[in-house]
Amino acid sequence: MLRNKQALIPYLLLVAALAGGLLWYQSEQVPRLGRVVSTGKMEVGGPFRLTDHTGKPRGDSDFRGRYMLIYFGFTYCPDICPTTLAVMAEALDQLGPDAKKIVPVLITVDPERDTPEVLAEYVKAFGPSFVGLTGSVAEIKEVEKKFRVYAVKQPQGEAPKGGNYGVDHSNVMYLVGPDGKVIHFYTEAISPDDLAKDLKAKT
Ligand code: NI
Repeated sequence: MLRNKQALIPYLLLVAALAGGLLWYQSEQVPRLGRVVSTGKMEVGGPFRLTDHTGKPRGDSDFRGRYMLIYFGFTYCPDICPTTLAVMAEALDQLGPDAKKIVPVLITVDPERDTPEVLAEYVKAFGPSFVGLTGSVAEIKEVEKKFRVYAVKQPQGEAPKGGNYGVDHSNVMYLVGPDGKVIHFYTEAISPDDLAKDLKAKT
């Protein structure tokens, strides 16, 4: 979550950049604009290899053939992360059997505290299909970079759930297709109903 105004500016820039990047991306995929897009393509996402909440190595290639709905957050987050994960859980519930096609994934932006054990305890509250992913600080930084995620430790921030620092971070859900490519993204402001409808249309 974002706790101060300075943090909001890079976040808004990020959302704008993501929107722009995906629009370019989509216009290349579907050339309905009737012209060749020659510049401005921004890659979002890409391959990763992390450790899941059971302690096993898990990478994007393990999910080929299914969609992933990826959210970057952390278990110590007092409000936005649990709210967004609850929206994902509710939307997937609404999809019924179709939800089997989509794996909800939480990638931590706080790998120092979010060990596999901590993630296991946390994700099970949102449903049995949720996968938590963590890694070394360097591994997580690399994945954040690929997904254009903004995440900065705030040592002097409030101490949610007894921790001694918070993490300001972007709140974006990424829909990744069966081929591993990011096909859409959602902000945390979306309702479970709208998310369910859109996932139904796109998967
Ligand atoms: Ni959060």
